[in-house]
Amino acid sequence: MKLLRLSLTDFRNYSRLDVDVPGGPVLLVGGNAQGKTSILEAVYYLATFTSFHASHERQLINLTAGREPLAVGRILADFHRDKGTPSAPVALAAGNHRLEVRLIQEANGFDSTPRLRKEVLLDGVKRKIGEAIGAFNAVLFLPQMVSIVEGPPEERRRYLNLALSQTHPHYAAVLAEYHRILTQRNALLKLLADRGGDTQMASAQLEYWDGQLANYGAQIIQARIQAIHELERLASRLHRELTRNQEVLRLDYQPAFDPLPERPQQLSMPLKDPVDRTGLPLEKIQRGFLECLQKARPEEIARGVTTTGPHRDELRLLSNRIDLGIYGSRGQARTAVLSLKLAEVAWIKEKTAQWPVLLLDEVLAELDPERRLDLLGRLLESEQILLTTTDLDLFPQGFVDKAVTWNIQGGRILS
Ligand SMILES: Nc1ncnc2c1ncn2[C@@H]1O[C@H](COP(=O)(O)OP(=O)(O)O)[C@@H](O)[C@H]1O
Ligand SMILES: [Mg+2]
Repeated sequence: MKLLRLSLTDFRNYSRLDVDVPGGPVLLVGGNAQGKTSILEAVYYLATFTSFHASHERQLINLTAGREPLAVGRILADFHRDKGTPSAPVALAAGNHRLEVRLIQEANGFDSTPRLRKEVLLDGVKRKIGEAIGAFNAVLFLPQMVSIVEGPPEERRRYLNLALSQTHPHYAAVLAEYHRILTQRNALLKLLADRGGDTQMASAQLEYWDGQLANYGAQIIQARIQAIHELERLASRLHRELTRNQEVLRLDYQPAFDPLPERPQQLSMPLKDPVDRTGLPLEKIQRGFLECLQKARPEEIARGVTTTGPHRDELRLLSNRIDLGIYGSRGQARTAVLSLKLAEVAWIKEKTAQWPVLLLDEVLAELDPERRLDLLGRLLESEQILLTTTDLDLFPQGFVDKAVTWNIQGGRILS
């Protein structure tokens, strides 16, 4: 997988950017607030159609342009896909392709809040996001991703969802459908809670949503079981190397609805071993989830919310059988995230036969010198890497010599 050309229009602080992107490492160098991270954000958007740090997508549109009644922020990329296994619902042949995202902001009559629309075009054809995701693959690594280990469970679900969406042809669409069903079901439960009980019609409706939730939920659970199993194999090998055989990393999937509830008694808390759930048939997961929803019905009606399912899943990271999120040091957490991210790269390569484009934001500054060399050594395997830094001196001369340098200043690339 290789990005060949990137064009931005009214995206963040870039009013206009057009640049050919070389293979191998590209170093984006510049002072703070010049636009380095924004380039990574744009490229990652093409892989996931979501921003990693805008709380609202309106923020992606250039501020000056955004004051006009009609503003369009645009990311356009030409990229090359190698021969490989299809990972997008729309099977893409090997060769060059074009992906375009338009963020369109329109004034909304007399209302003061403008409306935002999003259009995605793959090879010139408008596509739903679920149809275009997986066409272009990238892995992003930011220092604040230490929150995958230390933060709330959403962060770990997000890590899984973004990796799975890029490799599993239908995951993104199934996940979106699950959330749509969840919203409907929650609205119905809320209505029942407010009314203080069941009616015959409502219970028939609930029956319907239960079936839907179990159907889509089971597909998510099954995909997560398999993905975690495969990522663990890769991450633990990398982690053993990065820690010089000091630490055994394990991924402990804790699904909110557990298709294998007969979890062995954990006698020696806090020491834990993850449960193996691989190979469970989809129908078994689906049936179990449905039964669980039926059992939980009185409680869910009383509380007016769906209390179990993949939207509440947890994934814990264990090192030497100790939970890193609770007992790990900052340094341990950082190394674990590095292992997870490098595992994501290797996993995408395994699943799609493509190296994802690697995006690393100020990552070296956070690592001790030994880990820096470990990381840089591994990176040279990738076909294409964009790395940002304020300080070129963090990189050994040998690496800088192999890389192309872009000097970024005020929303422009100077060389
Ligand atoms: N929508 C926007 N319009 C214009 N400028 C923006 C927008 N969003 C962010 N910026 C500005 O763009 C600049 C570049 O940000 P960033 O890419 O994070 O810089 P760097 O990574 O080089 O430190 C910052 O000054 C930021 O305030
Ligand atoms: Mg930055």
